[in-house]
Amino acid sequence: MTLDFSKPIFALAPLAGFTDLPFRSVVKKFGADLTVSEMISSNSLIFQNKKTIKMLEKSPIETPYSVQIAGSNQDIIKRAVEFLNMQDGIDIIDLNCGCPAPKVVNSLQGSSLLRDLPTMAKTIRTIKNYSNKEFLSVKTRLGFNTKNHIEIAKVCEDNGADFIVVHGRTRAGKYKAEVDYDAIREVKEAISIPVIANGDITTPQKAKWVLEYTKADGVMIGRGAIGKPWIFQTIKDYINGDSDSTSPTPELIRKVVLEHFEQMIAHYGEYGTILFRKHLHRYSKVGYIGASKFRDLVNRVENYREMRDIIEEFFK
Ligand SMILES: Cc1cc2nc3c(=O)[nH]c(=O)nc-3n(C[C@H](O)[C@H](O)[C@H](O)COP(=O)(O)O)c2cc1C
Repeated sequence: MTLDFSKPIFALAPLAGFTDLPFRSVVKKFGADLTVSEMISSNSLIFQNKKTIKMLEKSPIETPYSVQIAGSNQDIIKRAVEFLNMQDGIDIIDLNCGCPAPKVVNSLQGSSLLRDLPTMAKTIRTIKNYSNKEFLSVKTRLGFNTKNHIEIAKVCEDNGADFIVVHGRTRAGKYKAEVDYDAIREVKEAISIPVIANGDITTPQKAKWVLEYTKADGVMIGRGAIGKPWIFQTIKDYINGDSDSTSPTPELIRKVVLEHFEQMIAHYGEYGTILFRKHLHRYSKVGYIGASKFRDLVNRVENYREMRDIIEEFFK
């Protein structure tokens, strides 16, 4: 079993544009129990273009590894799953039922499944029927315009999901509405498969509180890990009562930033320099003097060596 729910799971949320292989491998070293690919449309999986294949790659330390797919056309989902079946190292297929983006919703993917539960049920069953992976999970919100969380959770359970992740907002709540932890707790009470709670968990204290309050089997952290991949270690230390090591030292931060940068270059080539800018913006927010000047500067750098020198100087 690659995923053990006998103790709380601390998972890194999929964040398109951020949680690529380099970032996931950095986070994994700080103790994340589960990492998930960025969302991949089932359509793009059946065409197998180079970019999609690259998005499937995982770091050797990523076990268990989940690949998140989106879609609702049963034939395309089936073919996407058959393609994933041929890829080694994937332990979980996750169905995205949360993405609020109009482009995704309008093509009947992501959160649009929450207003068409028969199609959601069918899609889960199709994955279950064809997948050869150990687990099937669903990442969902509480509803589309209004909450419908219990019915949604039961659809997941009844159609073969092994566990679910609940982002405690509706689609209408996008990424800003207050997270409804009561609703997550109600979901946990209503079904017997494991439930992972998600939404606005950004500190060890909050993680502990969410676990206790919702009685969820784990927490999933997204934005709280950007620029702070060590959050998984600080949460685990805090929950285990070893709170001395909650703040990373400047030396550790420097090491992490440099390692993350090197992984970006290894994965994307020199173009990784440009892609790393957004991460540098976030790393520099951990209380550094001159951070806004640094951000301006890195926005103009494209060269690997130059960027490395700037990073070494700033995080000294
Ligand atoms: C930039 C960004 C990209 C995201 N991409 C995905 C995605 O690809 N798949 C997905 O299920 N959720 C995605 N989400 C939602 C997150 O996984 C998570 O559910 C949400 O941000 C709430 O958790 P958090 O407050 O810990 O970030 C994305 C969120 C953000 C902000």
